[in-house]
Amino acid sequence: MRPPLDKVLVVIPTYNEKDNIKIACSRLRAAVAGAHILIVDDNSPDGTGDLADQLAADDPQIHAMHRTAKNGLGAAYLAGFRWGLKQGYDVLVEMDADGSHQPEQLPDLLAALATADMVKGSRYVPGGRVVNWPKSRELLSRGGSLWTRLMIGIPVRDITGGFNAFRAATLRAVIDEITSAGYNFQVDLTWHVISKGLTVAEVPITFTERERGQSKMSGGIVVEALLKTTLWGLRYRLGQLGSALRRLVSPRA
Ligand code: GDD
Ligand code: MN
Repeated sequence: MRPPLDKVLVVIPTYNEKDNIKIACSRLRAAVAGAHILIVDDNSPDGTGDLADQLAADDPQIHAMHRTAKNGLGAAYLAGFRWGLKQGYDVLVEMDADGSHQPEQLPDLLAALATADMVKGSRYVPGGRVVNWPKSRELLSRGGSLWTRLMIGIPVRDITGGFNAFRAATLRAVIDEITSAGYNFQVDLTWHVISKGLTVAEVPITFTERERGQSKMSGGIVVEALLKTTLWGLRYRLGQLGSALRRLVSPRA
C-alpha cells in the first residue's frame, strides 16, 4: 500500500517578489483548496518578507519562513522541505512565485503522483509549452536539458524544470545528498531520485515568463550547472566503463 497523499505543502521561494507573491497564493488557494503554502523569503529588500507575514496572519494555510540572506533557490527549498517533512506533509511541491508556473496545473501534477515517486511539470513533452521566453533563454534551457540527458543518460526531457511534486518519502531518501545552491538544484534532485531507483513522471505544463520583477538567473548559476552535470556525467560514464570491464574480465560476475 502506498502512503496517503492528502496533506500537500507548496513551497515558494521568494527574492523580491512583492508584486507577485499575493497573486500566486490566491491562485493556489483557489486551484487546490486543501493545500498549504510555505513562503521561504531570503530577506528580500523589497519587503516580500513582511507581505508573507501578512498573508500568513490572514490565512492559517499560509506559512512564512525567513532566512537572513540571499543564499540561492536550492538552499531556500531545502530549508522549506525540511520544515515540511517535520510537519508531516505527505506531498511537497516546488513552485516559483512569479507566475511562470500555473497553480491551475497543480492538480495534474498531484494526480500523476498517485503512480510516481516524483512528478515534474515539463515544458518539453507533448502538450508542454513556453510562453514569452526570449529565444536565447529557451535555447539555454533546452540545450542544458539535452546536455544533461547526454551526460548522465537519464530520459527526463525537462531536467531543469522547477514545478515539481514529491512524495515525502522520496524527498527523505535524497535530501541529505543534495548540494547545489542555484537552479542546478532541480537537476540534482531529479538525478538523485532516479539514482535511488524511484520513478519520475513528466506532465505537460505551460511555462509563462514573468510579467513583473526580474529573473535571478545569472552566469554563476549556469557555470554551477555546467560543471556539476559534466562531473556527474564523467563519474557515471566511468562507472559504466568500470562495470563493462569487470564483466569482460569475469563474465559471470
Ligand atoms: N528565497 C530565495 N532565494 N528565492 C529565490 C532565490 C534565492 O536566492 N533565487 C530565486 N528565487 C525565487 C524567485 O523569487 C522565484 O520565486 C523563483 O525562485 C524562481 O526564480 P526566477 O529568477 O524567476 O527563475 P527563472 O524564471 O529565471 O527560472 C525558472 O526556470 C528555471 C529553469 O528553467 C525556475 O523555475 C528555475 O527553478 C528553473 O530551474
Ligand atoms: Mn521566473
